[in-house]
Amino acid sequence: MIRVVPLLSAALLLSATALAAPRTLDQITASGTLRLGTEAAFPPFNFYEGKALMGFEVDLGNALGQALGLKVEWVVQPFDNLLISLNQGRFDAVVASHAITPARQKAVDFLPPHYCSAVNIVARAGGPLTRQALAGKTVGTQVGTAQIPVLKAIPGIRDVRTYPNDQAVLAALQSGRVDAWTSNGPVVAYMLKTTGQTGKFLIGQAISNERNAGAVARGNAALHGAMSGALVNLLEDGTYARLSDKWFGQDIRCK
Ligand code: ARG
Repeated sequence: MIRVVPLLSAALLLSATALAAPRTLDQITASGTLRLGTEAAFPPFNFYEGKALMGFEVDLGNALGQALGLKVEWVVQPFDNLLISLNQGRFDAVVASHAITPARQKAVDFLPPHYCSAVNIVARAGGPLTRQALAGKTVGTQVGTAQIPVLKAIPGIRDVRTYPNDQAVLAALQSGRVDAWTSNGPVVAYMLKTTGQTGKFLIGQAISNERNAGAVARGNAALHGAMSGALVNLLEDGTYARLSDKWFGQDIRCK
């Protein structure tokens, strides 16, 4: 009995590790289904309309699956959990507008960027719309984003407050709990428009310019190769241009 206990727990640990390991390309191909993680609160890239998951990244992820001959199953989680969940094997790849940053490159393996965008400051008319004007102000942004270190490096900001998603930051801006909001340009434009507030808030200066990309778990080399190759094909065969035009009326690939 006494010996069985450590043996059992070692076996449990092994099976837990196996379950938590990211799937290889062979395992994914054998299953017939590619599992993609996203947030579903970042319109028009990934969001729910009613119960339907949609957006540019959802279309692009579905096209990637199709190019690889795989069905796509979407797994939705809060933005802040996505890279950890990716490395735990909860899904095979993430497509949620992550900026490629040196810190994240230590944790995951990025695909080629699928768009480039600025992170803009948003405020009321008369509010802080430039980096300099943020001095003494309170800024709201989404938790876990690349904006946070950028904002913390801007001198004089009074407070950087984080919220679970951009809907909550916009609500904080509307109620005056923050003076400014920062997020990716296409997202703030879309959210202001769809909430009927385009004239009420202004889109100001960029605090950074990002290359936004999907990612696979660190070291998942065969999957990385297959997905990168499929993405490059979509960028070249007109599929990407069609989807980008559908959502943005222009081609937003990195130039
Ligand atoms: N581009 C920013 C970043 O990399 C924000 C991305 C937020 N994505 C999302 N699905 N909410 O941190």
